[in-house]
Amino acid sequence: CKVHKICVLPGDGIGPEIMKVATQALTVAGSKEGEQFEYKECLIGGAAIDATGKPLPDETLAVAKESNAVLLAAIGGYKWDTLPSAQRPERGLLAIRAGLNAFANLRPAIVPRQLADASPLKRELVEGVDILIVRELVGGIYFGQPRGFGVNEKGDRIGYSTDVYSEPEIERISRVAFEAARKRGKRLCSVDKSNVLEVSQLWKEVVIRVGKDYPDVELTHMYIDNAAMQLIRNPKYFDVVVTSNLFGDILSDEASMLAGSLGLLPSASISGSGPGIYEPVHGSAPDIAGKDLANPLAMVLSAAMMCRYDLAIPNVADRLESAVNAVLDAGLRTGDIYKEGVAGTRLVKCSEMSAELMKHI
Ligand code: NAD
Ligand code: IPM
Ligand code: MN
Repeated sequence: CKVHKICVLPGDGIGPEIMKVATQALTVAGSKEGEQFEYKECLIGGAAIDATGKPLPDETLAVAKESNAVLLAAIGGYKWDTLPSAQRPERGLLAIRAGLNAFANLRPAIVPRQLADASPLKRELVEGVDILIVRELVGGIYFGQPRGFGVNEKGDRIGYSTDVYSEPEIERISRVAFEAARKRGKRLCSVDKSNVLEVSQLWKEVVIRVGKDYPDVELTHMYIDNAAMQLIRNPKYFDVVVTSNLFGDILSDEASMLAGSLGLLPSASISGSGPGIYEPVHGSAPDIAGKDLANPLAMVLSAAMMCRYDLAIPNVADRLESAVNAVLDAGLRTGDIYKEGVAGTRLVKCSEMSAELMKHI
């Protein structure tokens, strides 16, 4: 039996509600498999701003660095939306990603067979979809300099951000994507805007060069605008997608609609050495926070990814994933995945779905 040290970051909005479910699920699954977890809860996002004035207190980053993995729910909310950008909750999230050098964000978009009818798209279009979006997470326009506000020569106020990638940054994310593709369907689609942007031209050039080391993986390229359309028109075309920070952010929210809800999509943000960050793709959902309406499954599936990737306890991951499957088989649906008139399903609150989940673990 090993004790796994987990840095727990509930954050804001629905964050604390879904984190409670994930840590409870982990503890129960671990106890069945002879694994123990030690949770250290720390502040991030709006909660950290309120308590310390900073979106990522030094102590949180220090605890994260000493942990085996970081489990993060979500940050942000209306209350902090008017703060200057450098002081917003979102900066805390960016800072912990950068602080742990978690450059590779793996966002699987899988349509659970029980939910093929929950998607706003036709069943035959989404049934069997299994995409992995590999999003670069610590570079690009989210971090590029210069950024800020100023005044142009006409005296008008301007705002600007810079999309920039270096060759090594593109190379390392490309390798992660090719390696992942090699273990799956052996098809990689690199998404860029190289018909317009220099940063994308370099991106494409480097991806092609890295691809020479992976002759067994079929490499294709798509412009982001077309990719956004193809993801809806023919999602089964995609196996692994590799793309920049901003494009990956947008495509992964779009991909959640194949499965039916953002509340289903987990993610892993890894550096290859040191603790990774495991967080749902969705945000703090302030519109439903505190009402027991959140879907906790993306958070639980993120905990499962943590067990698989950082903690190397696939038996615990399997247990969590099977329990999620069982809950869906049992017909329990939170509001975001509930569709009227589907036989054998019923609308439940977060707490009821969680209780059922624990039973199946
Ligand atoms: P959001 O993902 O929080 O919510 C979008 C919509 O999806 C909302 O209608 C919400 O109710 C719904 N939703 C999201 N997760 C759900 C769940 N688990 N169960 C049921 N419904 C769910 O995005 P937003 O509204 O654009 O942003 C809200 C705040 O979250 C912002 O401050 C934003 O910056 C932040 N955010 C944080 C993260 C993160 O912490 N990783 C990710 C995205 C957005
Ligand atoms: C996400 C979120 C974040 C991002 C925000 C909250 C900074 O949208 O994790 O997808 O854009 O990366
Ligand atoms: Mn996002």
